[in-house]
Order: sequence, then C-alpha cells, then structure tokens
Amino acid sequence: MTQALDDLFDAARKAQASAYAPYSRFRVGAAIRAGSGRIHAGCNVENAAYPVGTCAEAGAIAAMLLAGDRTIAEILVFGDEPELCTPCGACRQRLREFGAGTLTVHVAGPKGPRARFTLAELLPHAFGPDNLS
Ligand code: THU
Repeated sequence: MTQALDDLFDAARKAQASAYAPYSRFRVGAAIRAGSGRIHAGCNVENAAYPVGTCAEAGAIAAMLLAGDRTIAEILVFGDEPELCTPCGACRQRLREFGAGTLTVHVAGPKGPRARFTLAELLPHAFGPDNLS
C-alpha cells in the first residue's frame, strides 16, 4: 500500500469505530481525500426511524464541506467482510456532486483495501452538476 492509501485507510478504519449502527449492526467508515490533499472522514449514523439514518459517505462529505473543501479526489469506504462494502446508489450520486467520473472509490475491509472502481464504473451515464449548467 502507498503511504497515501494507508492514510486514507487508517482514517476510514478509525471512523468506522465511531459508527452508530444499533439496528443493522453494520458499521461503516469513509475517508475522502479532497482536492486540497486533506482527509475528511465520516461514519454511518442510524436512527430508530430507519429511513432517517445516514451513510458514512454522507458524513464524510459534510465534514469535507465544513472544513472548506469542495472537491473529492478519492474515497475509501471501510466495512466488514465478507461482502464488498460498495457505496449505495444514493451515495454514488452524492459523490458525483463533488467528484468527476474518474474519481477512485476504494473498498476496504479490516484486512486492507479489497477493490477499486472509478465512480463512472459505479454510476455510468451519471446526471450531475454539468447537466444543469
Ligand atoms: N452504509 C454506509 O454507511 N455506506 C455504504 O457504503 C453502505 C451502507 C450503511 C447504511 C446503514 O447504516 C448500514 O450501512 C446498513 O445498510
């Protein structure tokens, strides 16, 4: 693993430890590397009213904006095995708002990074900010 990916992995792993997931018991952490190079992390936050829960990616995006960054260069999503913890459909669209189709989405588990995709692979022919300009 490169140092840059290692840093992203550590941030997402730490974020997973803060997840609030008493209903699904599926804890997720996400770490974004912004265009500035800074890392912003988030975790999933569930709710007794199930649909109100938010994904780790949404938390990381909120942290990124709060810190003053506006673009996503890459993201690592950390979830437990055995299945790959790929971003849900809504989060793919959230990522598209702040990142290009070329942005790399790493999917990791406790043993390390397991797969990587471009956002365009996960969300082909996306509708994004450019469609409204
Ligand atoms: N979840 C995330 O936070 N990110 C993903 O990429 C996939 C799913 C959360 C939502 C919910 O709290 C739990 O995982 C189970 O779906």
